[in-house]
Amino acid sequence: MADLRNRVFLVTGATHSIGEYIARGLHAAGAAVMITGIEDDKGRAVAETLGARATYRHLDIRSDEEIDARLAETVSVFGRLDGIVNCACSYLDNGIATARADWLAALDVNVVGAAILTQKAVAYLPKPGGVVVNIGSVAGKFGNGFRGPYSVGKAGLMHFTRLAAVALGPQGIRVVTVSPGWTWSPPMEGMTANNRDLADRAGADVTPLGRVGRMEEVANVVAFACSDEASWVNGCDLPVDGGFSMMGPDQGLGPRHWCNQHAGEFAVDAGQPNPK
Ligand SMILES: NC(=O)c1ccc[n+]([C@@H]2O[C@H](COP(=O)([O-])OP(=O)(O)OC[C@H]3O[C@@H](n4cnc5c(N)ncnc54)[C@H](O)[C@@H]3O)[C@@H](O)[C@H]2O)c1
Repeated sequence: MADLRNRVFLVTGATHSIGEYIARGLHAAGAAVMITGIEDDKGRAVAETLGARATYRHLDIRSDEEIDARLAETVSVFGRLDGIVNCACSYLDNGIATARADWLAALDVNVVGAAILTQKAVAYLPKPGGVVVNIGSVAGKFGNGFRGPYSVGKAGLMHFTRLAAVALGPQGIRVVTVSPGWTWSPPMEGMTANNRDLADRAGADVTPLGRVGRMEEVANVVAFACSDEASWVNGCDLPVDGGFSMMGPDQGLGPRHWCNQHAGEFAVDAGQPNPK
């Protein structure tokens, strides 16, 4: 396990789901965590269950004033700030038909808020030693017929990681993306009527490891990325997706498999399918 004793991290969107697990993972590794978000009751409850070394504060990452106040408060409460984790996201999205106001609103959370928090955190982060972790997604890596600002935001955030790594590297601040694949979490619980077997069955179709991910698995990689064990990891994306992003659209089955699917329609023998 990563050793984050005597380190302090601020996590956005940490009131539930993956953000909560990230905060819990950092805390379990010994860090103090400033849990932030916009769901105050849930955030306070998370901080209470963690007890010492955890505090909740409201932080809407669209607000420069709140960002300034929470960064300063983190240092006054815990004495230092070693890193931030940009986990907050907006799923506001109507695909290609998304209206301008919704594009701007979603990108304000998914890219701009993370960029401004990073920019403002630099004044507090240790140089060298500061860390910024941006939570990406497989959604930011591939074309997707029904998504707009969410996917574009994730792709933008991954590129922000690259440019921030180059800009801040000379000061000894590392910036990385951690990109989950399909993860068993409240959004997936909602779309499966809370049926984990269904989620794993669907995940198996698109993921070499044959299931959906667990929130702890994302949190473990974030804790690693925040630790000194990752001291030479900078600017890159760490996928936590069971191999999802390594597989092409043919699901690794090759053209013979797909020709076989349609061979009957053309009265053609496409030969033996590839062994699975
Ligand atoms: N669930 C998945 O399968 C999955 C897959 C890939 C990536 N991710 C990423 O993981 C992260 C967490 O996603 P999740 O699925 O747990 O979603 P979620 O909606 O449960 O979490 C997003 C969090 O961001 C918060 N938030 C929204 N607007 C905010 C604002 N203006 N200021 C501060 N906080 C705000 C929400 O309150 C929520 O706590 C996101 O960055 C998401 O893109 C999730």
